[in-house]
Amino acid sequence: MNIKLEEILSDVLKEIGYEMEVKVIKSKEENVDFQCDDLFKLAKKYHKAPMVIGEEVINKINEKDYSDYIKDISLAKPGFINICVSDKFINSSLTNLISEDKFGIDEDNKTIVVDYGGPNVAKPLHVGHLRSPIIGQSVYNMLKFQGNKVIGDVHLGDIGLQMGQVIYGILEDFPNMKAENIEFDLKYLDKTYPRVSGLCKENDDIKKKCQEYTKRLQDGDPEFRILWKKIMKLSVNDIKRLYKYLSVDFDYWYGESDAYKYFDEMIPYIESNGVIREDDGAKVIDIKEEDDKVDYPPCIIQKKDGAYLYATSDLGTIWQREKDFHPDDIIYFTDSRQAMYFEKQIFRAAKKSRIYDKNFEFYGFGTVNGLDNKPFKTRDGVALKLDNLFSDVKKEFISLRKENEDMSDEDLDKIVNAILKYADLQNDLTRNYIFDLKKFTEVSGKTGPYILYTYLRIKKLLTSNNSVLSDNIYNDVDRQLRLKLLEVTDVLNLAIKERRPHYIANYIYDLATVANNFYSVNKVFNETEEVRNDYDIILSYNNRVLEELLKLLGIFIPEKM
Ligand code: ARG
Repeated sequence: MNIKLEEILSDVLKEIGYEMEVKVIKSKEENVDFQCDDLFKLAKKYHKAPMVIGEEVINKINEKDYSDYIKDISLAKPGFINICVSDKFINSSLTNLISEDKFGIDEDNKTIVVDYGGPNVAKPLHVGHLRSPIIGQSVYNMLKFQGNKVIGDVHLGDIGLQMGQVIYGILEDFPNMKAENIEFDLKYLDKTYPRVSGLCKENDDIKKKCQEYTKRLQDGDPEFRILWKKIMKLSVNDIKRLYKYLSVDFDYWYGESDAYKYFDEMIPYIESNGVIREDDGAKVIDIKEEDDKVDYPPCIIQKKDGAYLYATSDLGTIWQREKDFHPDDIIYFTDSRQAMYFEKQIFRAAKKSRIYDKNFEFYGFGTVNGLDNKPFKTRDGVALKLDNLFSDVKKEFISLRKENEDMSDEDLDKIVNAILKYADLQNDLTRNYIFDLKKFTEVSGKTGPYILYTYLRIKKLLTSNNSVLSDNIYNDVDRQLRLKLLEVTDVLNLAIKERRPHYIANYIYDLATVANNFYSVNKVFNETEEVRNDYDIILSYNNRVLEELLKLLGIFIPEKM
């Protein structure tokens, strides 16, 4: 709609003698649909008062016949053009939109790797691990919807210090045993990492030992490899279970360790490009650039003792991605503390060493906080495990109403998923947010259940006799709903372009709110055949938009609520 209006305004301006492409935006004023704020720019360019130019534009429009599009156009001080569009224009735009299978968005066909999730194997997953899979999966879905070839890679942290620590714990607990005979379970693992990591903080000798063990594992010590495989099996299965609960999945379950096989090729290649420098026995890449205001440390790729680091794995992974997929974009989602690491060290190092020269993007997200606005902790001061978070949310939702007890497990799981994801995705990802269990489980307010409930309530009104939309609009809230639906294209384009699911999440809420108003004002069943037919088309489309957009956020609709 905006585009057509922009066209009309620009044409009219041209006719009067002004050359400018103007923007038309949604208006927040009551009884105004759209507005154009560019009279000021024109005034500057043509040295005239904005109101004078505005007057000329409006006279010209009234002179000609734009009544198919514009119902009313007026000027507001100090220089805005306010537009109300005609019912006919709304309905024809809506009919066009309904015929589009992807809401008329700008499609694309790039190859894009999305690196998200990134859990560390052998460490229990907690609230702090929630955002990367939720946000990453949603952006993955959006990019795929846009038509791109998207490759999701979880990039497991599977060979870092935590592995040396867990192996240390195992060797202490099962002394003098061959690795193949050592048996342990997930519970044991969940306790071992925190215990040894605590010991390392108190005791330097243990810390050194754990580092040494990590190096031995990286070098392929056969006994250590056997233990490592056992740890991997238990822990990765559990990560998959938790991710499945969140409807998060990956095309590749590669880990840091999978990059090791490329080092023998990659490091000489980087060396041959002359960017590796020896620094006190370590191999480093300098990444400083002339205009830097801050002194960024070099990217270390091999320590003095020969050990590889987190950064080496990331470079090796980029090497592998370039070799296997030739991506146009590689996009990372981690918490914002890794911004400098990616944006300055990894991206620059990869470009300088000519491993990859196309587009990198990094999106750092904020923390999930408790009611005290500090990172979410349990009463005992530790981060809440994901399993416990899921069951707390479920319990809270069930406790809301007697009927919730009788819901199917499948439906309950979809609702828990919606509660968690909607709580997260309604925020700009860069911000921290407070996870308020009570607030987010409610069926009213800006919550997942509110939106699901709205969808199901409207679904009950729908019949399936679809004919064409008439030229009428019946009342104000009907008009608002139609106009709101017409916003979907711009919202999706913006969300995809900026990799920001919150634009979609917020739009869904606004749409659901208007749809609910519509529902409470219009008694659909009492209407005449003709009106009901129009309402049916509008409301079916409303639900199609809600369902498809929720899917992009990774939220699915239960059978009933
Ligand atoms: N495992 C890392 C962590 O817990 C996150 C991985 C992010 N992705 C990457 N390619 N480094 O901090």
